[in-house]
Amino acid sequence: MVDASQDAAAPFVDFQDVWLAYNEELLRANHFAVEAIDLKVRRGEFIAIVGPSGCGKSTFMKLTTGLKMPSMGKIRIDGQNVTGPLKISGMAFQAPSLLPWRTTVDNVLLPLEIVEPYRSNFKAKRKEYVERARKLLQKVGLAGYEDKFPWQLSGGMQQRASICRALIHEPKMLLLDEP
Ligand SMILES: Nc1ncnc2c1ncn2[C@@H]1O[C@H](COP(=O)(O)OP(=O)(O)O)[C@@H](O)[C@H]1O
Ligand SMILES: [Mg+2]
Repeated sequence: MVDASQDAAAPFVDFQDVWLAYNEELLRANHFAVEAIDLKVRRGEFIAIVGPSGCGKSTFMKLTTGLKMPSMGKIRIDGQNVTGPLKISGMAFQAPSLLPWRTTVDNVLLPLEIVEPYRSNFKAKRKEYVERARKLLQKVGLAGYEDKFPWQLSGGMQQRASICRALIHEPKMLLLDEP
């Protein structure tokens, strides 16, 4: 059996004629948020998508991370058909979307409380994970803000914390929406 994820030549991200209408009504009206995307991204490659507001950048990222399913076409990531939210991806959203009742470090830890295999051993490994989160926060210049709440941080600082949250589970694929 050929394991496509081991095939270095296979594209890591593979969009084949992908269209998305956000709901049934828009689909019936042939109103698509993105149309006919054909795109291949190789392992280790870095790409940037530039375009005017409303052109579909955020929609593209939701499709790539499996948060939205295409209305038509096929998406393969790391050799697998995308059928739902991807564990191997990290995403920083356009709005920082930190939980206001959690401190910065607890916001960064959130994916580890949700994504397996971290979820199962979260309690046992909490100390190690907190250490990892604090290191990431220091790396982006947020030392001293780890135990503050999001509303005590500037917009840019919140965005940096949200990038740490996207990195905490060491994703194979990182998506940054207007970071
Ligand atoms: N939840 C939604 N429901 C319906 N239409 C949406 C939704 N989100 C985005 N759209 C539409 O999809 C198109 C692309 O939006 P988006 O991907 O957010 O663009 P960008 O990130 O490039 O500014 C726009 O026409 C927008 O109005
Ligand atoms: Mg956007």
